[in-house]
Amino acid sequence: MSDSDLPERIGTGIPGLDEMLRGGFFAGTANVVSGDSGTGKTILGTQFIVEGAKNGENVMCIITSEESKSIVREMKTSFGWELEKYVREGKLTFVDITDPSLRLQKSVEIAPSELIKSFKKLVESKIEEIKPTRIFIDSIEALFLAIESNYKLRTLIDDVFSVFRKHNVTSVITVGSMYGLDEMVEYGADSVIKLGRIIAGNNLQRSIYVMKMRGSGTINEVRVLNISDKGMSVLAQSPYLE
Ligand SMILES: Nc1ncnc2c1ncn2[C@@H]1O[C@H](COP(=O)(O)OP(=O)(O)OP(=O)(O)O)[C@@H](O)[C@H]1O
Ligand SMILES: [Mg+2]
Repeated sequence: MSDSDLPERIGTGIPGLDEMLRGGFFAGTANVVSGDSGTGKTILGTQFIVEGAKNGENVMCIITSEESKSIVREMKTSFGWELEKYVREGKLTFVDITDPSLRLQKSVEIAPSELIKSFKKLVESKIEEIKPTRIFIDSIEALFLAIESNYKLRTLIDDVFSVFRKHNVTSVITVGSMYGLDEMVEYGADSVIKLGRIIAGNNLQRSIYVMKMRGSGTINEVRVLNISDKGMSVLAQSPYLE
């Protein structure tokens, strides 16, 4: 295969992560970031869309719960990122599915699978309208938690992820590790990045590794994830090698 036949790689905007992915995410794929609470999922996803907006791309952020609503304020206090500026410039669009006017809120009358189908339709119409190159969904659990059958869950996850492939949008989707939903979401993903913490003596260190990446080699190391006032980065050397 010549270089021009290779699928396009999309830079993540996280220094050090593209090297782990051998050049970034493949364009038009569903990339899951999973980890316990507070491991950096929201920061990773936000930095990914900010990178696109900085490059002049149209990007979209889908908010799925009350918790994820505070993203603009948190990113400002954490790193001084002015997400509103990108919104004003028309580069960043927020889609808040808890907004009652979208009629996507949970209700006893709507079956959970119908809710997901409406969500998929909404995402698809927003993609057609805004034509984003990058999408960040923070997070997916609120949508899928009510689905009881694992088989159904797999099918619905595949169905939602297929929208990104069809429209060639590169997506980052976060999932927490509660309820075992993360495993099901990981099956459907094109790549999975795992965030965590390692306790070494009295030190707490943030960690990152690439659990899978369809169609690509990756660096098979657990590396140190650094979060500072400038944002997130991955250290080039792994301290965990023998
Ligand atoms: N400027 C900063 N410098 C260092 N660490 C920071 C900074 N800003 C935020 N953090 C750390 O990042 C963590 C939050 O990361 P983030 O919100 O991305 O986690 P999360 O995985 O999305 O969590 P949740 O599952 O609760 O949504 C905070 O707990 C804080 O420790
Ligand atoms: Mg979060």
